[in-house]
Amino acid sequence: MKNTSPVSRSGRFAGGPAADVAAFTESISFDWRLWRHDILGSMAHATMLQRIGVLTKAELRAIVRGLEAIAVQINTGKFQWRPALEDVHMNIEAELTRRLPAGAKLHTGRSRNDQVALDIRLWLRDEIAELGAELRGLQKALVTLGDKNSSVIIPGYTHLQRAQPVYFAHHLLAYVEMLERDHQRLAGCFQRVNVCPLGSGAIAGSTLPLDRDLVAELLGFVDAKGKPVLTQNSMDAVSDRDFALEFCAVAALIAVHLSRLAEDVILWVSSEFGFIKIADAYTTGSSLMPQKKNPDIAELTRGKTGRVIGNLVALLTLLKGLPMTYNRDLQEDKERLFDSADTVRGCVRLMAAMLQHTTVNARNCAAVASDPTLLATDLADYLVRKGMPFRQAHHVVGAVVALSEKTGRPLNQLTLAELQTVDKTFSRDALGVFDLSRAMGKRNLAGAPGTKEVAKQLARWRKRLS
Ligand code: ARG
Repeated sequence: MKNTSPVSRSGRFAGGPAADVAAFTESISFDWRLWRHDILGSMAHATMLQRIGVLTKAELRAIVRGLEAIAVQINTGKFQWRPALEDVHMNIEAELTRRLPAGAKLHTGRSRNDQVALDIRLWLRDEIAELGAELRGLQKALVTLGDKNSSVIIPGYTHLQRAQPVYFAHHLLAYVEMLERDHQRLAGCFQRVNVCPLGSGAIAGSTLPLDRDLVAELLGFVDAKGKPVLTQNSMDAVSDRDFALEFCAVAALIAVHLSRLAEDVILWVSSEFGFIKIADAYTTGSSLMPQKKNPDIAELTRGKTGRVIGNLVALLTLLKGLPMTYNRDLQEDKERLFDSADTVRGCVRLMAAMLQHTTVNARNCAAVASDPTLLATDLADYLVRKGMPFRQAHHVVGAVVALSEKTGRPLNQLTLAELQTVDKTFSRDALGVFDLSRAMGKRNLAGAPGTKEVAKQLARWRKRLS
């Protein structure tokens, strides 16, 4: 057999593929990164083959040593990847077989179809664990920033219009909650990734007495009780990429959350808001305007979200028209999956680093948070406490706001007499509503941005994330 012809063509084909065909069909340029997991899978498969008598102990030993030697070569950059051998699976198997005759027995009862499904699952398990840890890091960065500025109050916004005052920490903790749901989604996704497809063969399993349980156990595809978890339908197992798609969906939602955070950061760091400052090392300059300091980490995070959403759509589209079972289209899954994993992991890490190098401009925050219109709703609540129906209170306070605009004096500087021209229910204590720290002390419902509640939430997260 010629070196340039992969084993998949042996016997049946007159020779290797045309050069342009090889270039069009290869996946080694991107799936090489599955090598560690491919070798792990092969070692487990070989161990099982020895147990069922397909390999002798000596052959197993030689195969394991051969694979270890190949791993060292790959790790040190000395391995010659050959595009003519299509993919990572055939490159490694071909090299093993070149080194030792027993290598030719490794593919017994196995197809690249179940092999690639296995490799992606193994790879993705590790990736999910890494991303989960990065998410924790970002949550910690948010909690720490909130903690350091626990007395800072800013306007909360709806429609990007000033709405009601909130602690800066409360705003940050909103993202901590979102990321917590992302973390849970990752854990759910992991369960569906953590299922062993090996033994499904090309489509229909094998006539050989493979021990699927053993392979699953060796590779850690086990449930909470340590029982092996196997795919239950060989056709589904080789054509299923739901688990990869699901990861891309979780990643897309994480990216969307990061993008929203990025947008807040971009607003806050603008001169118009001036709530925060990002350290020089985590910003970039302009090639023309010397005064510029740009929040590029946040902007790129927002921008990369488009890519991550695109990857999800690409995978949905990839799968939608596929007949059973494996089709070569599926080779297109990997670049999208890898890109989503790499991109989101990078964004989470960099956003966390940026927040660790962010300071809050407490004076600017205090200046805008002192806007008394933020407490207009509190004034309505005051009237409600005096027995007025809320709808009427809303109308009365609306008229008070109109009066303040007309007189050009802030809400809290209207006199009692002026308030009473709008409604007689106002009495001496009405203006006390505009005491911001008292107002914050009153917002103590579960989940509200009140002084006690925010302190409680900060403490809860600090403990959870420690
Ligand atoms: N490179 C292929 C992929 O990534 C591996 C499986 C190939 N199987 C096949 N029957 N051609 O999907």
